[in-house]
Amino acid sequence: MTILIVGATGTLGRQVARHAIDEGYKVRCLVRNFKKAAFLKEWGAELVRGDLCVPDSLTPALEGVTAVIDAATARPTDSLSIRKVDWEGKVALIQAAKAAKVDRFIFLSILNADKYPEVPLMEIKRCTELFLAESGLDYTILRLAGFMQGLIGQYGIPILEGQPVWVTGESSPIAYMNTQDTAKFVVRALSLKEAENKAFPVVGTRAWSAEEIIRICEGLSGKEAKITRMPINLLRTVRRLLRFFQWSWNVSDRLAFTEVIASGKPLDAPMEDVYEIFGFDVNETTTLESYLQEYFNRIMKKLKELDYQKTKTKKKKAKKSPFKNVNNQ
Ligand SMILES: NC(=O)c1ccc[n+]([C@@H]2O[C@H](COP(=O)([O-])OP(=O)(O)OC[C@H]3O[C@@H](n4cnc5c(N)ncnc54)[C@H](OP(=O)(O)O)[C@@H]3O)[C@@H](O)[C@H]2O)c1
Repeated sequence: MTILIVGATGTLGRQVARHAIDEGYKVRCLVRNFKKAAFLKEWGAELVRGDLCVPDSLTPALEGVTAVIDAATARPTDSLSIRKVDWEGKVALIQAAKAAKVDRFIFLSILNADKYPEVPLMEIKRCTELFLAESGLDYTILRLAGFMQGLIGQYGIPILEGQPVWVTGESSPIAYMNTQDTAKFVVRALSLKEAENKAFPVVGTRAWSAEEIIRICEGLSGKEAKITRMPINLLRTVRRLLRFFQWSWNVSDRLAFTEVIASGKPLDAPMEDVYEIFGFDVNETTTLESYLQEYFNRIMKKLKELDYQKTKTKKKKAKKSPFKNVNNQ
């Protein structure tokens, strides 16, 4: 069974590729840049060059493919807009998959997408879910919340470095999940009859607010966070201003997402039935505390080693110094 993964160089996509290869699937990855994707080839995946925004590149990539996993999304660092990649690109991919008669299409959406029609990415996810359901393809939609991997850059590193940690509005508790755990659900969906033409939430074991995560990071690092609060109204004004200029629409659309994470409304869902259908044990899912503990243990050990090396080098230098004897005399 050959599967095509789109977005395999991304945070979640790479874990999906790794897990699918480990599970014995023949994995093909549609990538924009071979150099950046070299690690996927080393793992045993086949690479094909393609771009969601170049529809002609999709048909050859789908040749002989049984299932598609779409883990792509517009990069904030790209000039391409969410509309171009996440809507036009995905419509082209679904149409190409239909023409190639693939057996299953797995789409990664966002939890509660239907509750935020004013947020462009949420509205696009909702519309893509509908478009896929009406395409005639056999599909599974997994609705995700947030990834634990993102917490390191957002809280872990700034707290360790004494940099400000930004908290916007009334922080929404989010049920973050380790992408390695999410990947297991994605790959299992490929072969699960009960997952055919259905949508499921796939989220972490409980929802955490920004303040709770900061407290855990402080405890694990022994450092106090410098919290900077950004009023939601200020962000809304900035967003409205940015909408005036076409060149800043992309930034404005991304800022709109703060409406989701600063609304105070939890991004969480019950998962008991999902664990049962997918045949996984919730006790094997990474908790946020254990994920952060593992990260801080690793980083604190590294910092101690670096500190030890520095002291050793200093001592060596001091021994060699001709002034040492002079001072001692
Ligand atoms: N991050 C979260 O917290 C979160 C939460 C809920 C749902 N999700 C969903 O989960 C999925 C994976 O998200 P992620 O955070 O892992 O994404 P990510 O790390 O930002 O990676 C995005 C991936 O999409 C690829 N891509 C971007 N534009 C493309 C194009 N024009 N053609 C082909 N590939 C393109 C990127 O390739 P390059 O390496 O070439 O840029 C990269 O592999 C997405 O559907 C996202 O909406 C994410």
